[in-house]
Amino acid sequence: MARHILITGGNSGIGREMAATLAADGDQVIIASRDLARSQAAAETIRQAHGDVAIQAMALDLGDLDDVDRFAARIREQIPALDVLILNAGLYTHGTRALDNGLETMIGVMHFGHFRLTQQLQSCLASAENARVVVTSSVAHKIGRIRPATFDQPNRHWMALQAYAQAKLANLLFTRELARRVGDSGITANCFHPGAVATGIWAELPRPVRKLLGNTFIDSKRGADTGIWLARAPEAAAFQGEYVVDRQPVASSRAGADMALAARLWQETERRLAVLTAH
Ligand SMILES: NC(=O)c1ccc[n+]([C@@H]2O[C@H](COP(=O)([O-])OP(=O)(O)OC[C@H]3O[C@@H](n4cnc5c(N)ncnc54)[C@H](OP(=O)(O)O)[C@@H]3O)[C@@H](O)[C@H]2O)c1
Repeated sequence: MARHILITGGNSGIGREMAATLAADGDQVIIASRDLARSQAAAETIRQAHGDVAIQAMALDLGDLDDVDRFAARIREQIPALDVLILNAGLYTHGTRALDNGLETMIGVMHFGHFRLTQQLQSCLASAENARVVVTSSVAHKIGRIRPATFDQPNRHWMALQAYAQAKLANLLFTRELARRVGDSGITANCFHPGAVATGIWAELPRPVRKLLGNTFIDSKRGADTGIWLARAPEAAAFQGEYVVDRQPVASSRAGADMALAARLWQETERRLAVLTAH
């Protein structure tokens, strides 16, 4: 039977590759990003390449918590049982920027937006048989530190790379704590590092750094491989709370394996979300 799969950030880069492969496999895929026209164009390209596949584009801004709630309500109505939730959307902003809700942009979109979306889709995941949550983290988590004081304090002197790394560490810790919380309910949660992938996400990296990395980038197809594998491989069903690279669970940084930190981040995120969404 076709599985229902939701991919955030599915209109370009790694997410788009995951969407194309999973839709071509016969799954019913929804891609959700801010730019609806770009998502519709991506869906159309995938349809043209793979025939009459089931792929739908929807608008979602993870940086706007009200929009996340509205989007989740539509999903709950449309798909009572969600088999795979791929939390992939992301961005790198050079020079720290803030969202309208006051959160620093990268932690606000990649961690808070995805956390809220997962909370809101819990019933859909619970209704599916053995639902999988797959999170696109990054090796950049290794240079990240969780500093709640910086969550809502954009600071010109604060390096963008540190903010990105903190958000990717938060993705990893969220995955670990979610996995612990769902336990043996049938739901699994795992995250992966896709490799250094040539996508639009690095447009704001300073030019010399981009040049330095240029030769080492892999293409999106390769970058998407482990995420696709986590979403569909029977072997991956046994994984819970893992950080996966090239289809293998690997060690993360010490902070990335710190379950006390994961629990504190979860509580802090819930506390802030309660305030940010209280209206
Ligand atoms: N490329 C790499 O080397 C690399 C390495 C490690 C991890 N990653 C991770 O891989 C994921 C995908 O990135 P990518 O490299 O494929 O970059 P990409 O091509 O720029 O894709 C990013 C996606 O996120 C969406 N997005 C950004 N802000 C959003 C928001 N506020 N709400 C909803 N969607 C939003 C974008 O669509 P819209 O602009 O339409 O919203 C786009 O579809 C990210 O989580 C990134 O951190 C990438």
